Amino acid sequence: MKKISKAVFPVGGMGTRFLPATKSIPKEMLPIIDKPLIQYAVEEAIEAGVKTLIFITSASKHAISDHFDPKPLLRQKFTDEGKTELVDKLDTLTTQITRVFIPQGEPLGLGHAVLQAKEVVDDEYFVVILADDYIKPEKGVNATKQLIDASIKYDASVISVEEVTDDRVSSYGIVDVGNNESDVNLIQSIVEKPKLEDAPSNLGVIGRYVLSPEIFALLEETQCDKSGEIQLTDALAKLLDKPNNLYAATLKGKRYDCGHKLGYVQATIDSALDDNSISKQVADFIHKL
Ligand code: G1P
Repeated sequence: MKKISKAVFPVGGMGTRFLPATKSIPKEMLPIIDKPLIQYAVEEAIEAGVKTLIFITSASKHAISDHFDPKPLLRQKFTDEGKTELVDKLDTLTTQITRVFIPQGEPLGLGHAVLQAKEVVDDEYFVVILADDYIKPEKGVNATKQLIDASIKYDASVISVEEVTDDRVSSYGIVDVGNNESDVNLIQSIVEKPKLEDAPSNLGVIGRYVLSPEIFALLEETQCDKSGEIQLTDALAKLLDKPNNLYAATLKGKRYDCGHKLGYVQATIDSALDDNSISKQVADFIHKL
């Protein structure tokens, strides 16, 4: 059986939609209530069996490595004071998990970011998680685990998709899966951010992928697009040259695109209404507003 134990987190993006908040911190450090987006993503990966976290970073953004560092002095202080609930909050990562930080070097897009993980991933299938696609934690739902299981079953790369509204089609990779009958379907074509009139369907790629290591050679031969970026989607399209090589799994779970303001605010409200410590007050507040 294939081993899938490494996850790549591209976190070097410029986060321009959230400036000035993202001047000195990656957008993945923005919190939903009290936990940064990257922590939700890392927890999802670990729950799915990932043992090595590979962060593709940009220079001068150390907040993510700081966030996952142990804080022994603070831990001791809270322990001495009997504040166990605060000790638990400090434990952002268990020690058995390996962290690797790789600088992206140049902001040349998602495909370029993933390519930087080549040496560390080596010859194994691996996970890619875009933390700004926030999937609300719910019991029994794990998008990464869903992809890993499908990848093992079909012995192929599998990416997560869900229907997006017409006005959002041009913001996503869009796939054509033909009849779209089951939870996991063979992809027939994939295109990055098409105009609505050119889109083969409304099935948008969301930020969860399990990829074969053959993607690295394909990324190496992928040219920059018009915007000067190497698109992961363009390399995924090349996977389709071989039969039964790339599948789409329909996302199980509630997902918010926190790469833009509206999705971020929606995710925050949904999570607040689910947080027992504040949900009633939040509902009252929204009602009065
Ligand atoms: C990236 C991918 C796109 C995918 C999206 C999911 O776009 O290029 O194919 O649909 O993530 O969030 P970005 O959001 O980085 O522009």
